Amino acid sequence: MKILIVDDEPNIRDLMHRYLSLDSIESDRAENGLSAQRMLREEAYDAALIDLKMPGMDGLSLISWMRGEGFRMPIIMMSAHGEIIDAVSALKEGAQDYIVKPFDPEELTIRLKKLVEAQHLKNLVESETRNNLEDEKQLFVGESNSIKKIKDVIAKISDTNSTVLITGESGTGKEVVAREIHAASPAKEGPFVAINIGGVPENLLESELFGYEKGAFTGAVSRKTGMFELASGGTLFLDEIGDMPLSLQVKILRVLQDRRITRLGGTQTMPINARIIAATNKDLEQQVRDGAFREDLFYRLNVVRIVIPPLRERREDIPLLAAGILKRLNRQMGHKVSGISADALQELCNHDFFGNVRELENIMERAVIFAGAEEIQIDDLDLRGSVSLHTQIKDEPKLSTTEAKSLKDVEVDAIIHALHRWEGNRTRAAQELGISRRTLINKIAEYDLNL
Ligand SMILES: Nc1ncnc2c1ncn2[C@@H]1O[C@H](COP(=O)(O)OP(=O)(O)OP(=O)(O)O)[C@@H](O)[C@H]1O
Ligand SMILES: [Mg+2]
Repeated sequence: MKILIVDDEPNIRDLMHRYLSLDSIESDRAENGLSAQRMLREEAYDAALIDLKMPGMDGLSLISWMRGEGFRMPIIMMSAHGEIIDAVSALKEGAQDYIVKPFDPEELTIRLKKLVEAQHLKNLVESETRNNLEDEKQLFVGESNSIKKIKDVIAKISDTNSTVLITGESGTGKEVVAREIHAASPAKEGPFVAINIGGVPENLLESELFGYEKGAFTGAVSRKTGMFELASGGTLFLDEIGDMPLSLQVKILRVLQDRRITRLGGTQTMPINARIIAATNKDLEQQVRDGAFREDLFYRLNVVRIVIPPLRERREDIPLLAAGILKRLNRQMGHKVSGISADALQELCNHDFFGNVRELENIMERAVIFAGAEEIQIDDLDLRGSVSLHTQIKDEPKLSTTEAKSLKDVEVDAIIHALHRWEGNRTRAAQELGISRRTLINKIAEYDLNL
């Protein structure tokens, strides 16, 4: 256990240092905020003991800097009598405890030890949860040639930092592949930060990505760290990159070129060392031709390209995927379905999964619930739903154009039909309508379609 003591009064520093050493607790001493910052960058501390009033950078600013930089260790603030108000602000800034001078060094040592223990416990619980989540996570399953090739590519790029573009239909496993690339990379201990570009309102997207400084605009009451910064030392997954508004595309391009960002309202540029992985189920080449996606950005992203074929073009993966899904479902749902009967499996292999692996997962989930026996039988598989859904789309009569209708009516009609066909799934409905998910959501709001 190692503690950082920050106080401009040498006698307090030394007193605490001595007391802690009686308990065999190591400590370093800093005489002001600046040297504390330097020491924090160089050494790992289990807790910090910080004086409120110091010349230069005071204790409050130091705490706020520490929390801003992501230092999570417990902090105890020391203040003199009559500084209670400041002690309250200290707690607000992120200190766990404060103690009023003059204090009993023994009591302070006890409080410190308690806080450090509590923090260790918290870290332990968090890492356990993370491990459990990792267990739950689906591994990248597949033995078809196309999946083998993708696994080869992942292995080849594992010690590089190159930008990757993943394309494939919805539900083919683009996010699975992105996580796999991260897990195989030197940055695997770093964060995997994912942002769904299509899911963030356009006006918030820039600040989500770049962050902002306090006061950058009305409402920016405190500093916000953007996704590029959050992903530092790890991977930034830009999902649904095809939905990136043109106005932002040029800014993203600049980040990829310069490897630096500036927070909104900020003046300082900061280096970005996150690996960038982008994904889309759109035809980006076509979007480039249509002028909806910048060609230069496309080439910046398309350094390594991974195309995931639809499941119906690699049917040999179905049994393996189904087995993996079954195992996970059994664990999650506490069921004891041991397998799939031969003809049920045959039926699965013949099915055209237009929703790809995600559809297979849904069908399996239903089957596990309905399977009375230990094996999933043909009757437990509800493939009709998806098949008829598909034929229905093909058979659906085109919207009548003979009647005079306003453009709005036609749109409303098309939207309601599409949503109905896809059982309210907005992503699918938007795909069918040939518009982005965000445009669909905007239109639902605009036409006040309470769906
Ligand atoms: N090869 C695979 N092995 C195991 N699970 C997979 C595989 N491919 C996909 N899955 C599972 O299928 C589901 C869909 O995968 P994922 O979310 O990665 O698809 P996606 O391509 O990102 O889809 P969308 O375009 O709709 O976002 C997930 O639950 C994922 O765990
Ligand atoms: Mg996805």
